[in-house]
Amino acid sequence: MHVYQGHLAASYCTIPIFCQTSVVPEVPKRFRNLFIIHLIYNNSFCYSCIWEESHSTPVPRCIYPEQHGYIVTGEVTETWNAELEVELERINTPKIYAGEIFNRLLLTVQYQTDHRVRIKIQPKDVPRYEVPQEALDISDDFRTTEDRLYDVSIIKGPPRFAVVVKRRSDSTVVFSTDVPGLTFTDQFLQITTRLPSSNLYGFGEHNHRRFQHDMNWKTWSIFAGGGLPIEPINVYGVQPTYMNLENDGKATMVLLKNSNAMDVVLQPDPYPAVTYRVIGGILDFYIFMGPTPEEAVQQYIQAIGKPMMPPYWAQGYHLCRWGYLNITDVHNVMSRNRESGIPYEGQWVDIEYMYKLYDYTYDKKGWVDLPKLIEDLHNHHQKFIVIIVKKAKINSPGYDMYDDGVRQDIFIKNSSNKVLIGKSWPGISAFPDFTNPKTENWWYKWMSYLYHDENIKFDALWIDLNEPKNFVNGSIDGCIKNRWNNPPYIPNIVGSQYGSLNFKTICMDSQQHWGRHYDVHSLYGHSEAIQTYNALLKLHPQKRPWAITRSNFVGTGKYASKWMGDNQSKWSNLHWSIASIMEFSMFGFSLNGVDICGFQGDAEYEMCIRWHQLGAFYPFARNHNGRKRQILYRHQDPAAWDQRFIDIVKPVLMTRYRLLPYLYTLMFKAHQYGDMVMKALLFEFPTDKQTWSLDKQFLLGPALLISPVLQQNQTKVEAYFPQSRWYDYMTGEEIVPAAQFHNLYTPLHKFNLHVRGGYIIPVQRPDTTTYTSRKNSMDLLIALDEHNVANGELFLDDGEGLSEVVTQSFSVLIFQQTVSLRLKPRVHNYEEAKNLKISTIEIYGLNKLPQKVTINGRELDDNYIRQSGQV
Ligand code: NOJ
Repeated sequence: MHVYQGHLAASYCTIPIFCQTSVVPEVPKRFRNLFIIHLIYNNSFCYSCIWEESHSTPVPRCIYPEQHGYIVTGEVTETWNAELEVELERINTPKIYAGEIFNRLLLTVQYQTDHRVRIKIQPKDVPRYEVPQEALDISDDFRTTEDRLYDVSIIKGPPRFAVVVKRRSDSTVVFSTDVPGLTFTDQFLQITTRLPSSNLYGFGEHNHRRFQHDMNWKTWSIFAGGGLPIEPINVYGVQPTYMNLENDGKATMVLLKNSNAMDVVLQPDPYPAVTYRVIGGILDFYIFMGPTPEEAVQQYIQAIGKPMMPPYWAQGYHLCRWGYLNITDVHNVMSRNRESGIPYEGQWVDIEYMYKLYDYTYDKKGWVDLPKLIEDLHNHHQKFIVIIVKKAKINSPGYDMYDDGVRQDIFIKNSSNKVLIGKSWPGISAFPDFTNPKTENWWYKWMSYLYHDENIKFDALWIDLNEPKNFVNGSIDGCIKNRWNNPPYIPNIVGSQYGSLNFKTICMDSQQHWGRHYDVHSLYGHSEAIQTYNALLKLHPQKRPWAITRSNFVGTGKYASKWMGDNQSKWSNLHWSIASIMEFSMFGFSLNGVDICGFQGDAEYEMCIRWHQLGAFYPFARNHNGRKRQILYRHQDPAAWDQRFIDIVKPVLMTRYRLLPYLYTLMFKAHQYGDMVMKALLFEFPTDKQTWSLDKQFLLGPALLISPVLQQNQTKVEAYFPQSRWYDYMTGEEIVPAAQFHNLYTPLHKFNLHVRGGYIIPVQRPDTTTYTSRKNSMDLLIALDEHNVANGELFLDDGEGLSEVVTQSFSVLIFQQTVSLRLKPRVHNYEEAKNLKISTIEIYGLNKLPQKVTINGRELDDNYIRQSGQV
């Protein structure tokens, strides 16, 4: 007997993938060019599998016979809610896995908008779990016109059915299931979709090292997990969404709306394709037609929920660590950083502040003066943020949160209908069910207890371990063996080697309001984010709620910001941070970032400086540090190093603060239109192939280009400047020629920031808090394009009121620069905006000094005009 090793085994799988040739049919010649991929965990798979020698992989790969799938039976019809509806019937495909196999499926295709089509495949007449509308409400206010961007056709088969989506303008097939292998059983769904090109981005959450995917038979497993974000494991969130960029720069975005665990396999040939292997729910695809990458992402974000509008101060620079042992520690950090004069907005505290690590309490021994410390922060116009870890300790006299939760019946129950008990920081604890509407009041009550009764006047919340992470597997009593805890097919997720899904989380057969944990596991953080948002709103009805979450699902950005969890204090992580933030921008999070200087391990001097020069341009800029049990990693806040460190880091943080009016305007545009704040260059230059794989540089909005140093001892950055005019932010010097790489000299004290011609950047003289910065006058930085034209926008509001955006009490001012600067208010309700004063206007790209300058007809004398370099 001969045993073949499946090709994925070589690089990835923890479980050997093998197939015995005794059960594998010969490879008939006509199947030579078929493909498909198989992760084969047990021999039952082998019955449907044909092995094929491959040039692209060192080991044979497994393919399916052409007729493996379903065919159309009956006519394609139009119904009241779908343009196309048709029944499918399974044809001679083998039975894979135990459990029900669905012989009849229903396919519906809805032309939802001119740019969005939904393709849904589900068992006929058998109800299945679907992502609930309360979790993700993609508007069904459909309207299409003559200008629809796509056509959909159905191939009836035999050999098999397929659904094909074409872009109308150029007939490109952007989505097609015309590949054998469609499988629909109770706990194993498989579909392969062909891609128009191999330029693929997205899918999460993982710590992808590159923004553009490697298509060479990579498997990415998707399931909310609480492990360390080390490639290639599944971590905190679930984003089953990709963007595909075609070879002419057009793009589509595709969402598989499904919250069950899955594997996603990427393959390069014979043509690029994605195979989804999902263990529940239905196959529910949404395709967003672009045609530009920017439009595709925008359409996606508009559908799943646009990012929440953060308060202005959230964009400041924050300090945090796990390992402030007591209040004196925090005081020391506060005073040394205030004295250093760096911009410093928010002080965060990790779990140590809690009484015995119970949520919504504080330790009145080591942290007795916490309310005073908060007052002191507030007196200095700084903010205070606390961590909360979604658990309620049981058996804790004097701490009623658990008993109260039992009384209100809001905890997740196990399969015997008893409260499921797991373990978290304080010991044995129960897990609130945030999918239950009743939980929101309970959550609010305890939040309000901390705020009002305990007098901990926090300004925002940090919600952690909400995958949900459990310190034991399943529960303190384990989990019973059944098809939910131990499904027949387990994606290649962390812990799958133990044959269950319960690794460091709760039992999959436990019960939640939205369904069985098996189905809704990856919605835990999302549901917590929703209820936290609502509870914060109740706490401060006039204020914009702000929370930051670790776990996430499609659409979480509407309720919370995102940080990327427990990264490492290593040089490599600077580069990787760019890809992950750019991905989360595509997933609809505007204010996202990673821990500056890294979380695990001791930071190193030069690395921490370079990380500040990078992190100063993350949408969310927080320096956060960790500990390993009793070992505290070295302090890494700027003032913990030396004066030289402060002198180098302060200018870049001040630059961030100077740019905040621009950044805030980007946040507003994200909130209002689904734009991205931090993004890859390809979104602005989609037809420039050079940009497609760039992930060592990034843009903030359309106009600022950041080219950071990412390696030790590096003093030169090879930076690409796409076709446009570009100016050094500091000097105004133009980079010529464009559309090529330039070597930028970047000694330790320097960072690379360039402004794109054609844009006007509103800036403000910076100070050490956003409150004081916002008292300063505004300036304009005008970067001219090749026609000496520039445009810009400025969004202004009070920075924290909820009603501002909702009731349109804000101002968007549009600047236009040609020969004259014109300021046009587009929406102008915000009273303060009427007093806007602009004190300096800098113009980059003028080839000679203007002979005279007039403001509203009044001529300025020469004292007001300077050429760069003049004092
Ligand atoms: C895990 C979080 O990812 C990390 O940021 C935090 O410091 C620790 N939990 C301790 O609360």
